[in-house]
Amino acid sequence: MSKTILITGGAGFIGQHLTAKALASGHAVRILDNLSPQIHGPDAAFSPAAGATFIKGDVTVRGDLEKALEGVDTVVHLAAETGTGQSMYEIDKYYRVNVQGTAILLDILANQPNRVDNLVLASSRSVYGEGAYVCTSCAPHGERCYPLARSPEQLARHDWAPKCPTCGSDVEMTATLEGDRLAPASIYAATKLAQEEMFRVAANARRLGLAILRFQNVYGEGQSLQNPYTGILSIFTTRIRLGLSLPVFEDGEETRDFVHVEDVANAVLHFAERPVIGGVTVNVGYGEATSIMTVARLLCAVMGSDIVPHVSAQYRVGDIRHNYADIAALQTASGLKPAISLDQGLTRLCDWVKTQPIPQDMLERANAELKARNLMG
Ligand SMILES: NC(=O)c1ccc[n+]([C@@H]2O[C@H](COP(=O)([O-])OP(=O)(O)OC[C@H]3O[C@@H](n4cnc5c(N)ncnc54)[C@H](O)[C@@H]3O)[C@@H](O)[C@H]2O)c1
Repeated sequence: MSKTILITGGAGFIGQHLTAKALASGHAVRILDNLSPQIHGPDAAFSPAAGATFIKGDVTVRGDLEKALEGVDTVVHLAAETGTGQSMYEIDKYYRVNVQGTAILLDILANQPNRVDNLVLASSRSVYGEGAYVCTSCAPHGERCYPLARSPEQLARHDWAPKCPTCGSDVEMTATLEGDRLAPASIYAATKLAQEEMFRVAANARRLGLAILRFQNVYGEGQSLQNPYTGILSIFTTRIRLGLSLPVFEDGEETRDFVHVEDVANAVLHFAERPVIGGVTVNVGYGEATSIMTVARLLCAVMGSDIVPHVSAQYRVGDIRHNYADIAALQTASGLKPAISLDQGLTRLCDWVKTQPIPQDMLERANAELKARNLMG
């Protein structure tokens, strides 16, 4: 059945892919987005895909949200501040946009007559912090354990491995399940967890459909090339095009689960079309861990660059060491399995990047902001 979907943050990376898919499936789409200059550049103009309507507005402004919600039956909440490192020193901004913005959205839904019956929230794997590990020293039978966030002192020693909370030994990563411990290691992650809890309580109180989708590292064509605070692959493509060095944090062996944006948009649309009363929380990842050094080398190869990525041994407070998703729950709940391999996805990303103007590299500036606050070593 055709829906009228409000996508907050719909002018962003995931939002644009979702808009295209929702329109192609016959839904009406409204976008609320403030065209944040950090993401879209200064004086950004945005033309929504044909058939979608666009309201330039802010999720922290009640009147903008009220206008955007008129006549809508489904809300996909994507609008957010998204930089892990930046969140550690722009705490007020991250709280206002991610938490207060969510509060205003849910407050309107609770207090005004409306026909919204389904909510989809873009959450993040960051809510797990380090996620699940196995300690082969004190739990040889493979019980899961949950290391604490690595302290600034541990990182300063360049001791990168998370430790067993029982015996202190190095631990081995394993795929994170939705029921694993939640332990945000950054302010960004804390705001995403707050969003989850608020959506869960508000949706269940009114028996609305709810899907909380914990995205892993989403990459692909359309990710902002302007934003130096998030999107490591987009940042690397710019440096490669400018012929700059590719510094990889820590020892390069830290891993992420890279999932292509098209697979993510498919998952979001699935749950936007099918309300789950009582709610569902699922990981959305590719389900494989890839080291940052590996992905940096792959990217250079796909872009035909002879730059050799190097280990910088630098680190950011608030970064996690590893995390990859167990995606069985996504498959059970939706029948979907992310299908775009890293090789295929990187080729698509690079083909798109080549059509874009080369932006300035702002990674050094973003790193300097962290260093000035003792959040990077
Ligand atoms: N991209 C990833 O790897 C990833 C991973 C985990 C979770 N997520 C989540 O997915 C969602 C979308 O991420 P994305 O990668 O598309 O990010 P993005 O930065 O490309 O898009 C976010 C959009 O929100 C808009 N926005 C920001 N603040 C706003 C405000 N106050 N009012 C209205 N609009 C505002 C921006 O202008 C932008 O268009 C976010 O909630 C993010 O936390 C993304």
